Amino acid sequence: MEQGTGVRTRLVHGGTLRSDFGETSEAIFLTSGFLYPSAEEAEARVAERTAGYQYSRIANPTVRMLEERFALLEGAEDCAAVATGMAAVHAALFAQLRAGDRVVASAPLFGACLWILTELLPRFGITTELVSAGDPEGWERALSRPAQLVLVETPANPTLELVDIAHLARLAQAAGARLVVDNAFATPYLQRPLARGADLTVYSATKLIDGQGRCLGGLIAGYSRFFGEVLRPYLRNTGPSLSPFNAWVLLKGLETLSIRIEAQQRTAQTLASWLEGHPRIVEVRYPGLPSHPQAELAERQMSGPGTMIAVRVGGGRARAFNVLDRLRVIKISNNLGDVRSLATHPATTTHAKVPPELRERFGISEDLIRISVGLEDAEDLIADLDRALGP
Ligand SMILES: Cc1ncc(COP(=O)(O)O)c(C=O)c1O
Repeated sequence: MEQGTGVRTRLVHGGTLRSDFGETSEAIFLTSGFLYPSAEEAEARVAERTAGYQYSRIANPTVRMLEERFALLEGAEDCAAVATGMAAVHAALFAQLRAGDRVVASAPLFGACLWILTELLPRFGITTELVSAGDPEGWERALSRPAQLVLVETPANPTLELVDIAHLARLAQAAGARLVVDNAFATPYLQRPLARGADLTVYSATKLIDGQGRCLGGLIAGYSRFFGEVLRPYLRNTGPSLSPFNAWVLLKGLETLSIRIEAQQRTAQTLASWLEGHPRIVEVRYPGLPSHPQAELAERQMSGPGTMIAVRVGGGRARAFNVLDRLRVIKISNNLGDVRSLATHPATTTHAKVPPELRERFGISEDLIRISVGLEDAEDLIADLDRALGP
């Protein structure tokens, strides 16, 4: 049936599979398994001679609706939904890496991703080199030698540094590496890494895709050959499956993604400009400000600057804690992408396990606060920050 090709239309209708009841909203198939009409049919399905569901660790209709809708949004040939963003990052790496491989990754990187690279992969004989996200010469140097995988976050959590995806895709290809982009901060609504040459994108769907702080989820999008030969066998045998209920929540989240991002982004731009004029702010990082060191790249690579702001408030950890503790409307939380505005101190929460020398090297300073802008009135958020920052 013709479903329309516009992004907003796809976010509402894409991937919908209606049962014979003709339900309006997508059905939740909360079932662990599926029945076979005969032993012969069971054998045929398991052998993949006939199509049909077998077991929800392998595939489930509600989860499949989410995967198909997201693949349409991303412009990907396939998508796999998993239990969390970290399950997505973990599977994207472990499904394809082998002992002796070399990974090149951007920094800063979300704390748990850095842990996988620096603590877990070395146990299996896989090495990682970190390159500062916005350092083109650093990328050229690191990828002048063969590598098997490149992992980047852009915009980066929490400093909002950017990586030039198209440039990096060329370097990665020349080095023999697949490029994996963690696109959680932008979502495909604002940035399409696959269209710029990346091989895979990974997401914490927990963030803007749910958008209301309700459930965890992860998504991986890319090319069907990789999914069929490498990723799906890994997922079905290791089992980081998404609950059909959470898949349904995320489907509902996708329906409103466009209007939430547009509204939250508008407020983020207003807030970032106001913060930049505040006398007690040392630095504001927001890809929509001309003062962002990569403002031109943001304009070229993203269709909007997003909903996240990083600010340095000066005075180290004590001052940052003081500002956070005085906020009333904006809540302290290490989540992001919610309709509630949330603030976090990355050095002691999301990136607390990153060694201090790496935090310093990659700009996760003690006076840095990350703000995830929500749907509240901009005036209330400005008043809240004004009171918290003090005269
Ligand atoms: C950039 C990035 N990648 C991955 C993750 C992990 O996602 P999840 O918490 O859904 O496992 C996060 C979570 O904060 C994140 O910010």
